[in-house]
Amino acid sequence: MVSVPHGGELVRRLCSGLEEQDARRRAQEYPAITLSSRGRSDLECIGTGVFSPLVGFMNETDYQRVRDTMRLADGTLWSLPITLPVSEEELNQVVMGKEVALKDLAGNLCGLLTVESIYKIDPMKEAQQVFRTVDTTHPGVAYLLTTSPWMVGGPITYLNPTERGPFSQYYTDPLESRQIFAERGWKKVVGFQTRNPVHRAHEYIQKSALETVDGLFLHPLVGETKSDDIPAEVRMKSYEAILEAYYPKERVFLSVFPAAMRYAGPREAVFHALVRKNYGCTHFIVGRDHAGVGDFYGTYDAQELLSSFHPEELGITPLFFENSFYCRRCAGMASYKTCPHPDEDHVSLSGTKVRSMLKQGITPPPEFSRPEVIRVLMDGMGQG
Ligand code: ADX
Repeated sequence: MVSVPHGGELVRRLCSGLEEQDARRRAQEYPAITLSSRGRSDLECIGTGVFSPLVGFMNETDYQRVRDTMRLADGTLWSLPITLPVSEEELNQVVMGKEVALKDLAGNLCGLLTVESIYKIDPMKEAQQVFRTVDTTHPGVAYLLTTSPWMVGGPITYLNPTERGPFSQYYTDPLESRQIFAERGWKKVVGFQTRNPVHRAHEYIQKSALETVDGLFLHPLVGETKSDDIPAEVRMKSYEAILEAYYPKERVFLSVFPAAMRYAGPREAVFHALVRKNYGCTHFIVGRDHAGVGDFYGTYDAQELLSSFHPEELGITPLFFENSFYCRRCAGMASYKTCPHPDEDHVSLSGTKVRSMLKQGITPPPEFSRPEVIRVLMDGMGQG
């Protein structure tokens, strides 16, 4: 084991075999709550220990403390609310202290929850605290407004499916990733979060980090993202292409992160670091505007927030990187820390710019992205 899970122990709320048969039988009698795509992925993350030490959807006390102070009621650091919204109709059926069935959008039973708390949130208060804005053009704020303000909290049981989704060959839960790191003899493992296709700045910071640790845990998020982000299937292909051509296989482990993207910038960077600790990482990369969107957060706000916590409390070492770019005069990747040349010599493109180029069939320059990756993106975006 390379790192201690957040809160001390890896949570496992899975049930199988006879226990599962019993849960399925009981659930037939229970009122059901339908999970959104995010709710479904949160359930999976709680059940498999990705969100350790959470054992369920947050009750009101945990929710309020996390929203206002970034701590669970017992004082443990935790930066994002993990809540379960319920419709008014569902609300009328739930009873404190009793179990409810949790179903996905297709109506399949995927878990049970014991109702410990029923409460109403103030979405704008949450938006201000968590996203630092109430601007409804922020995708996280907009999402909050689409869901019911009524929440149900309590411990869950997750019915672990045998089918592990569209990226099953890359699926590892925290118990499995920890075993893999141990088998590979990796003592220091750096985690990398991404919701974008891989580009050269990603590669630069990943490889710079890899120079000082034993292994790289490439962990693209494949849960729900905003509609104009590049689809996860295309992003995964971009990873396959670049790994094949440019990375040492024995030092890199590609796996998928099933959580939804919140676009909460600094707070999500803390969350991303803590959950990668649960997967067994000892280090975590945070570059420019981590988990940001538009101009809502300062370039290094996420790094600042992470620096404000005591290292022991985080329990994972964040590795900070400056905004990186390709410099024509240096003839390589660099940052303001390492390059003396003016901006005219630098090639750097925003995600929005790249998406718009791809949509118009314009090839992003090789200084921005490896040709192997560009090919995947052009094919994936219908321009191949
Ligand atoms: S994120 O929403 O998952 O953070 P993205 O996939 O763009 O978005 O970023 C993944 C990681 O790479 C983040 O830590 C981000 O800060 C970092 N990053 C992305 N582009 C750059 C860049 N040009 N320079 C430095 N760090 C970067």
